[in-house]
Amino acid sequence: MERFTNKTVLITGGATGIGLATARRLLEEGAYVVLAGRRPERLEAAARALDADGGRVATVPADVAEPTDLDRLMRRIETWRGGLNAVFANAGVGVFGPSGQLSADDLDRILDVNVKGVFRTVRKALPLMGDGGAFVLNASWTLHRGLPVAAAYAASKAAVHNLARTFAAELAPAGIRVNSVSPGYIDTEMYRAANPGPDAEARDAAQVPLGALGHPDEVAAAVAFLASDDAAYITGQDLIVDGGLVAAVPTGAEK
Ligand SMILES: NC(=O)c1ccc[n+]([C@@H]2O[C@H](COP(=O)([O-])OP(=O)(O)OC[C@H]3O[C@@H](n4cnc5c(N)ncnc54)[C@H](OP(=O)(O)O)[C@@H]3O)[C@@H](O)[C@H]2O)c1
Repeated sequence: MERFTNKTVLITGGATGIGLATARRLLEEGAYVVLAGRRPERLEAAARALDADGGRVATVPADVAEPTDLDRLMRRIETWRGGLNAVFANAGVGVFGPSGQLSADDLDRILDVNVKGVFRTVRKALPLMGDGGAFVLNASWTLHRGLPVAAAYAASKAAVHNLARTFAAELAPAGIRVNSVSPGYIDTEMYRAANPGPDAEARDAAQVPLGALGHPDEVAAAVAFLASDDAAYITGQDLIVDGGLVAAVPTGAEK
């Protein structure tokens, strides 16, 4: 499939995990990809791994919580490619633990990156987006099912999906679609940092009807679908990619 031939896609948080897997998928389908994130060395390593020949990957160090970084990012994209066809607003942070132990700084950081960062990524990318463009926002399964250690994170991701709904309505007249994706337990650096120890994977996989953590490629496939013309009549939706975690209790765990 080459659904993204000559199309330009911005991926925030594109150097690792789900963002990196999505970049690989979109490159395979013909896209030009812009990777943004805070750590230049991770961005450069990702670009080398993805596009050894050069030419179809650009990297821009940027913190989505900093409006001036986003302005610089959009100027760079305009200079490089002249515009954008799709954006995966994927950058996010999580701090997990009982809500009473969340520091004021952690609460601010979660909201600054996950909510304000996604809001501003969409608003600031808009002038570069043409008719037929698509935004995909990275939310989380925790917006659908309470998780005791994730009060602020889950609330931020509920806001992300709500932004997808409102932006979907606001941008439909411009021919632009906006959806969110809600990954379940996906094996990435964020998952491993939040779930240390040898027992975490088995514990979490046991909650998933399909019986395993998800792979970043499995989310990337859903993002590519939502960003492509295959999803031309889909907007304002949340696509849950979680092996059934939100929908059902696994067979054998029902008692
Ligand atoms: N893994 C899961 O189980 C899971 C489940 C549900 C939702 N998600 C969501 O999936 C998204 C990607 O996470 P992941 O699991 O792939 O973990 P990850 O590999 O840690 O990816 C997070 C990415 O976001 C970037 N980032 C963080 N803060 C940023 C900021 N302020 N500005 C720009 N980039 C920033 C990070 O790069 P820098 O640190 O270099 O900036 C990193 O590349 C997140 O929004 C997360 O909430 C993950």
